Amino acid sequence: MTINIALLGYGTVGKGVYRTIQQHQGRLQKLLSEEVKVVAILVRDIKKHTAPDQSVMLTNQYEKIQQLENIDVVIDAIVGIEPAATYLQSAIEKGRHVITANKEMFAEKSNILRELAKKYHVSVGYEATVAGGIPIIQTLKKLLNANKVTKVEGILNGTSNFILTKMREEQLSFDNALALAQKLGYAEADPTNDVEGFDAYYKAAILSELIYGEKPKSEQIERNGIASIAKSDITFFNELGLRYKHVATIEYAHSQVKCAVRPVLVESNHPLYQVEGVQNAIHIEADIVGSISLQGPGAGMYPTASAIIEDLIHLSEKDQEYTFNEESTLDQQRSAKTSWIAYGRSALQQLPEGAEIMKMIANDTWVVEIEGDLRIEDASLIQILGDATRLKEMKKIH
Ligand SMILES: NC(=O)c1ccc[n+]([C@@H]2O[C@H](COP(=O)([O-])OP(=O)(O)OC[C@H]3O[C@@H](n4cnc5c(N)ncnc54)[C@H](OP(=O)(O)O)[C@@H]3O)[C@@H](O)[C@H]2O)c1
Repeated sequence: MTINIALLGYGTVGKGVYRTIQQHQGRLQKLLSEEVKVVAILVRDIKKHTAPDQSVMLTNQYEKIQQLENIDVVIDAIVGIEPAATYLQSAIEKGRHVITANKEMFAEKSNILRELAKKYHVSVGYEATVAGGIPIIQTLKKLLNANKVTKVEGILNGTSNFILTKMREEQLSFDNALALAQKLGYAEADPTNDVEGFDAYYKAAILSELIYGEKPKSEQIERNGIASIAKSDITFFNELGLRYKHVATIEYAHSQVKCAVRPVLVESNHPLYQVEGVQNAIHIEADIVGSISLQGPGAGMYPTASAIIEDLIHLSEKDQEYTFNEESTLDQQRSAKTSWIAYGRSALQQLPEGAEIMKMIANDTWVVEIEGDLRIEDASLIQILGDATRLKEMKKIH
C-alpha cells in the first residue's frame, strides 16, 4: 500500500518535504508500514519549475489535484490565508488528511479546519506553523492531558532575534542589523511581518487556541515591534546585565487569554537569555510539571520539513479533547509579581496604583514591581523576564 501525498507549494518548505520523503523513505516505510509518495505538486508559476520525477504531476491548477482520486494527504506549504484555506477545506471534504506549515492561514482559520476535520474523520497537522523544527505542538499535546499550562513565553521569530543579537554583539544600529539579516537570507525584502511582531503573533494565537481553547480577543492583544530600539538602549541594558529579546507571552488571567508580543529585558537566570541568533525557544510553565524550555531551529528547509514529517507519522492520532481554563490553578498566576524597568521620569508618573518602586539602578532608571501585568503605554516601561533580585541589590551605575 502507498500513502499518496499532494504537495501545495514547491519553495523552501515544499522542496524540503519532497527531499526528506525521498531521502528517508526506508525509515518512513518502517514507521508507517506503507510507502510514502508525493504524486502531485502545486505551484503558482509553472514556468519556474520542473517536476522532480516523471511520475509526479506538476500543476498550477488546484482543481487537477482535487480531481485525483488517490490522494491521502495534502501538505500545505504555500503562502497567505487564501487560497490555502479554501484548498484545505475542499481537501478535508474529500476525506483527505491535511498538514500545514502556513501559520498566517492557520492562525485565522484553525477553528473552521479543525471542526471540518472532525466531521470528516480526518486529521489536521500543524506542528510546522510554530517554531519550525521545535516539537512544541506535540509537547503541549502530551502535557495538556494532566497539566494546566499557566504561562508560555517564547522567542518565536528568528529574524527579530538575529537582529537584536547582532545589535548587541556588534553594536549595530537596527537598520544595519536588518540589512545584514537580509544579506544572509534571514529577512525578507519587506521585513514588517517579522520585526513588527505579526509573525510571532500568528504563532502565539495558534498556541493559545491549543492551550486555552481560544484565541485572545483583539482588546487582549498587545503587539509591539523592535524597529524603534536604539543601539544605545541595547548597550545600556547590556551593561546592566540585561538582554533585549522580542518575546511572545500568552497567559490566562481574569477569565481571558492575554497575548503580548513585545521587546522585553531578560535576566541571565531566565532560559530565554542565552537564545541567540536565528534560534527560537519556548518556556512553558505548568502546574504539575513546573517549567519546561525547548530551544532549536525556528525555520529553514529541513527543520520545517522535520515538523511536517512528524505530523505525517502522527496522522492517525485522534485530536484530543482537553479541559480548558480551570480557574483554581490558573488563578495562581494572577497574583504573581512582575518586574519592570521604568525608564525616564515620565514613566514613573504613569505608574498605576499597586506598582512599587524597588530601586534606582542608574540615572532615570528604576526597577518597579507590580502584581500581574503592567500595560505599556509607551516604550518607557519594559518588562524584565527572570528573577530581578540581583538588580534590586546592585549598586547604582552612572
Ligand atoms: N521557510 C521557512 O523556514 C518556514 C518555516 C515555517 C513555516 N513556513 C511557512 O511555510 C509556507 C511556505 O514557506 P516557504 O518559505 O517555502 O515559501 P516560498 O519559498 O516562498 O515558497 C512558496 C511556494 O508556494 C507556491 N505558492 C504560493 N502561493 C501560491 C498559490 N496561490 N497557488 C499555488 N502555489 C502557490 C509558490 O509557487 P511559485 O514557486 O510558483 O511562486 C512556491 O512554490 C509559508 O506559509 C510559511 O509561512 C516557512
